[in-house]
Amino acid sequence: MNTKASSDIGLVGLAVMGQNLVLNMADHGYSVSVFNRTTSKMTAFVERVRKEEPSSERVYGYDTLEAFVDSINRPRKIILLVQAGRGTDATIDSLLPYLQEGDIVIDGGNAHWMDTIRREKEIRARGLHFIGSGVSGGELGARFGPALMPGGSEEAWASLRPIWEAIAAKVDPDTGKPYEDYEPGKPITQGTPCTTHLGPDGAGHYVKMVHNGIEYIDMQLICESYFLMKELLQMQADEIAAVFRDWNQGVLDSYLIEITADILAQRDPRDDSRFLVDRVLDTAGQKGTGKWTSVSALDLGVPANAMAEAVFARFLSALKEERVAASRVLKGPGVAFDGDRDTFIELIRQALYSSKICAYAQGFSLMNEAQKEFNWQLNFGTIAMLFRGGCIIRARFLQKITDAYRNDPELANLMLDPHFRQALHDGQSAWREVVAAAAVNGVAVPALMSALAYFDGYRIAVLPANLLQAQRDYFGAHSYERTDEQRGRSFHVDWPVDGRPEIEL
Ligand code: 6PG
Repeated sequence: MNTKASSDIGLVGLAVMGQNLVLNMADHGYSVSVFNRTTSKMTAFVERVRKEEPSSERVYGYDTLEAFVDSINRPRKIILLVQAGRGTDATIDSLLPYLQEGDIVIDGGNAHWMDTIRREKEIRARGLHFIGSGVSGGELGARFGPALMPGGSEEAWASLRPIWEAIAAKVDPDTGKPYEDYEPGKPITQGTPCTTHLGPDGAGHYVKMVHNGIEYIDMQLICESYFLMKELLQMQADEIAAVFRDWNQGVLDSYLIEITADILAQRDPRDDSRFLVDRVLDTAGQKGTGKWTSVSALDLGVPANAMAEAVFARFLSALKEERVAASRVLKGPGVAFDGDRDTFIELIRQALYSSKICAYAQGFSLMNEAQKEFNWQLNFGTIAMLFRGGCIIRARFLQKITDAYRNDPELANLMLDPHFRQALHDGQSAWREVVAAAAVNGVAVPALMSALAYFDGYRIAVLPANLLQAQRDYFGAHSYERTDEQRGRSFHVDWPVDGRPEIEL
């Protein structure tokens, strides 16, 4: 314990993410006070830091909230990395008695953006500030450079900004390539930081949530590509790893493809003749941010079908026992692939890339709708740049998304950008072939299929909703618009029309 009373910032919640964020800040020269509800955890952390970490003299532990708060320079900046939901509310409540006007509370958890809007309002009413900041990049990201997505008042951001910019991941300002050669005590100080003020109140947490929705679909698409190689092409995990490594050299270059190759090449520590991935049970968990994204898309009327499909795919995977039972009675076609393996692998690559474009198009369309609803002014070029380094969905092709929105900030849909339009035109025949082969052979690839349905649905001027609307008018007198009348005029007939006139409502 120590009594120094002039830390630059404080952090509550010393799970791994919290610990690593503290070390990241200390590496950048900031003195950090830390507090944890279970004091022994704080003590153990500070002891370990003293022994092992180069920046140890800048980390100070406190065993009471009062002493912790007192130790931080005003206006105080206090980061919370505690359990989202009630954990956050409880921590804020216990801090409030010690805070003073102008102090800033920063929630770095995966909070629901509506909670953030509520908390910001309540805290502002007390003369304090609240920043809801997404923190992406897992444990390593927190330690050496996460992507940080803050939302809150301009004033609070001005105070937090130097620290957030210092500790965030950095990318080359010209190419967008992340700088990744970091090590403890030697932080990266060059490049564009992967953080920016995204807007007021819940804007940061909303963008982080959509990041996670994109993460869900990105992961599911990669899994389906793996599944096609495994089921249809009968490839072993290490062979598939080599394919992903190869793909990582081109437009698919991304953190998720990179770790997929690593995972597939990993042998089972219990049995070296096998691959670990084949021993991992096929049920996926989730903490809820993908579901929140899909619920928000439904609420805002945004067709983000592939994103929702990725959530449903996890639900389906969780029905392990039911699926095992069903596999004994529900029969599909036998898998029979007799084409050229390498040719088909290239088709899968193109299908994956095309679907990925649709996934990001859905994520950015959703943010576009949300900003209207919540009065934010999101800058999509900057958001794509921010996603370029540090976060889980970091990928080379985000640079093209940055370019797309810089060329046209009002772009209605990412698929309409000339670069992506061309990519979809180039990739669609492969994509169709892959989806058709999956359907014929009975291999479930819901995300690849629904992304294609999105592309086809979006690019068609006339959908069958004419019939749907007529059905609604038939049984519920819900009315319809006519193609030969101005938009907004509603008509109704008593179906089946039997000499009775159409009426305008
Ligand atoms: C990140 C991640 C992270 C998320 C995990 C688990 O950006 O670092 O999105 O915030 O919590 O990836 O998410 P699920 O448990 O929902 O898969």
